[in-house]
Amino acid sequence: MGTKRIIEASEKYLMNTYRRYPVVLRKGRGTRVYDTDGNEYIDFVGGIAVNVLGHCHPATVVALQKQAQRLIHVSNLYHIEPQVRLAELLVRHSFADKVFFCNSGAEANEAAIKLARKYAKDHYGAGRYEIITAYNSFHGRTMATITATGQEKFHKGFEPLLEGFRYVPFDDIPSLEAAVNEKTCAVMLEPVQGEGGVRVPSDGYLKEVRKICDEKGLLLILDEVQTGIGRTGT
Ligand SMILES: Cc1ncc(COP(=O)(O)O)c(C=O)c1O
Repeated sequence: MGTKRIIEASEKYLMNTYRRYPVVLRKGRGTRVYDTDGNEYIDFVGGIAVNVLGHCHPATVVALQKQAQRLIHVSNLYHIEPQVRLAELLVRHSFADKVFFCNSGAEANEAAIKLARKYAKDHYGAGRYEIITAYNSFHGRTMATITATGQEKFHKGFEPLLEGFRYVPFDDIPSLEAAVNEKTCAVMLEPVQGEGGVRVPSDGYLKEVRKICDEKGLLLILDEVQTGIGRTGT
């Protein structure tokens, strides 16, 4: 199929959930991607900041090929070695002591929201379920995560939203302190706001948020979909 035909078919057969650029990407190598008309681009988008390994590194390709030849999918009812090895690697190189693998950022945040509510219910009883998030945040496109997202444009048309979310200005400790009440169970933030415009908070902001959460017995959920796995240089 030529470029024009692919774009026409894309518009005809795919649901209109994303506005796409009129470019058909055909292959990628490292930092570069190539379109069907032979143009080469430096891929600064990186899958919206998630392609940390670049395109088609030989080690990635071989690992995918080997696994595809061995075993495709068996569900979470069984143990599989590569999953365990990756979990161990992530735990050894991060703060966490356990891993939950999922399919998307929204699904990870859904899990975090559910865990926060369950934790609060188990430890403090019913009635402590509110999560404070920031204006201009972005946490995903499921019902809970568009509600967590502090941007009205993502809410429009999907109301009524989920109960139990409050928004505060990002990088503003007094507003956060004022928003905490007896119903609050967690604070959920991007360490650097991504879709909200690459907004880096002031020095000390996140440490102060951590302190408030510790003092008030709140969970702190850090949405690192765009910032995690070393992408801020740490
Ligand atoms: C900070 C943040 N959280 C969550 C998401 C949602 O991730 P996904 O599109 O994989 O569901 C995004 C996507 O851009 C994001 O930037």
